[in-house]
Amino acid sequence: MCGIMGYIGAGKAVPVIVDGLSKLEYRGYDSAGICIFQDGKLKITKKKGRLTEMVQALGDFPLANLGIGHTRWATHGVPSDRNAHPHADCKGRIAVVHNGIIENYASLRKTLTAEGHKFQSDTDTEVISHLVEKFYEDSLEEAVRKTLKVLEGSYAMAVVCADQPDIIIAAKKDSPLIVGLGEGENYLASDIPAILGRTNRVYILEDQEFVVLTRDHVAITDFAGNPVSKEVFEVTWDPVAAEKGGFEHFMLKEIHEQPAALRDTMRGTIKEGLVDLSDFGIDDICDGVQKIYIVACGTAYHAGLVGRTIIENMALIPVETDIASEFRYRDVLWHPRSLMIVISQSGETADTLAVLREAKRNGVKVLAVTNVVGSSVAREADRVIYTHAGPEIAVASTKAYSTQLLVMYLLGLHLARIRRTRPEARLAQLAASLNCIDQGVEEVLSQQDKIRQLAEKYQGVQDTFFLGRGLDYSVAMEGALKLKEISYVHAEAYAAGELKHGPLALIDEGVPVLALITQDCLVDKTMSNIKEVKARGAVVVAICKENLQEACQECDEQILLPDIEQFLAPIISVVPLQIFSYYMAIFRGADVDKPRNLAKSVTVE
Ligand code: F6R
Repeated sequence: MCGIMGYIGAGKAVPVIVDGLSKLEYRGYDSAGICIFQDGKLKITKKKGRLTEMVQALGDFPLANLGIGHTRWATHGVPSDRNAHPHADCKGRIAVVHNGIIENYASLRKTLTAEGHKFQSDTDTEVISHLVEKFYEDSLEEAVRKTLKVLEGSYAMAVVCADQPDIIIAAKKDSPLIVGLGEGENYLASDIPAILGRTNRVYILEDQEFVVLTRDHVAITDFAGNPVSKEVFEVTWDPVAAEKGGFEHFMLKEIHEQPAALRDTMRGTIKEGLVDLSDFGIDDICDGVQKIYIVACGTAYHAGLVGRTIIENMALIPVETDIASEFRYRDVLWHPRSLMIVISQSGETADTLAVLREAKRNGVKVLAVTNVVGSSVAREADRVIYTHAGPEIAVASTKAYSTQLLVMYLLGLHLARIRRTRPEARLAQLAASLNCIDQGVEEVLSQQDKIRQLAEKYQGVQDTFFLGRGLDYSVAMEGALKLKEISYVHAEAYAAGELKHGPLALIDEGVPVLALITQDCLVDKTMSNIKEVKARGAVVVAICKENLQEACQECDEQILLPDIEQFLAPIISVVPLQIFSYYMAIFRGADVDKPRNLAKSVTVE
């Protein structure tokens, strides 16, 4: 997964591309590169490391009116200067940037090498530049079209040629790409934030679309050359919404955006006091459903675990929640009257997309819950419910997760209403509580300083445990993931009752245990597990509802949550865990928004 940015026009290409790439670094940041057309030649600068390294290597920004740039997250070949994109052909007259994986690159490379092509890198991408070179006669467009015929795999790519310095060619299959429309200038990018502030008019490219970009014109065809007519998508996002807005990091900003994101996602979902999603057009695919599969990855999977409890409890439909990379390779016993729900912030996660396609192949309707309009998941699913979290830039997901949770509740309540599985009074009560859940989140956010102090105290630890029962266990899993991914502290989530079946052996003097205690009906059970860890020397931090404070007195520290209906607690109880992880990362000097080895959008399996 990588970021692509391209520019053609009368303006200066380099600053536009560098700025666009900086907005795309969440897609990959182990190396960066740029190719511009200058003095009759293509000039490539590329560097291992963050974009700033490449910018330093560029020195004074050279003048050029055409260029393509790239931020990389390695798949084939280690992060290095020579594996960074763009990749050139043998003569340096053709250059390519690419996001995706060329699956048949090994055999293509063998053939091209036998034909005399000299490879400079270990990447799969480089076969593209050599294939274009091989097919090039006098038209870059034709050469790229011929190249696409022999490529297998996924790609968003941009190609330039020194002999035709007035066009950029682009093509898309299974990796995202958009075109930004300017006046006398046009842009290419992997994602909208890269061009926000320059234009709000974009084409969102579909698979198998091919683009010839000049400064005054954008021609889109399918791979065979048939014209494709597309509607211009008007982006309504405020450009500053994609910036840090006064916070030190995107992650902290996004944690604080949760109340607003929840309100936005809630909008238009309640009618006459009850959750009603009929306007989302999902009722036909939910009708008569007897089994639901929820499939996702990482944080989105954790939202799906909560979703299982909610939907089973409310709508009385059995739900199976699974990890996409597992689900796609197991022999699923498809229930004949089932519905698949896929959850994906980016809407581009390769494993989730593969499961979506597998479900459709098996005749199962798919409902997508995603944050990105026009993403692959959104386009390919039968129906979509969007989380309105806005762009999430920090790699660690926060506001996307809480809005995913909210959608799970909305779905559960909607299904319960149409299936009449719960009394209307109960549904109305839950709808009313959901409708003001943003206030509960605000209350927790106001305790940021206290949570920061806890992180300061525990910053030096090596291992942590997150415990909970029921819904608290699902949130504990998300808390542990957050802590490990951004602070690099080892964190294990356990169902509280499972500890004594093995992991209790790891509890030792001073080990911090974060205990989620929001389920009134389970508090006594969880407290007995807490006594077990305390007896082995653990320091217990309780994240508990105010009304359970007394029951949790034996814990060493307490973070108090508003006294909310236990069923809805996850949306609130995850917030202190997000803040704790954030400050643990800060105190340990980690790169919060761009944790090592990780990238925001995982478009390879
Ligand atoms: C962790 C995180 C990841 C993603 C996962 C799925 O903070 O963000 O675990 O949740 O990679 O990504 P999406 O939701 O884009 O499918």
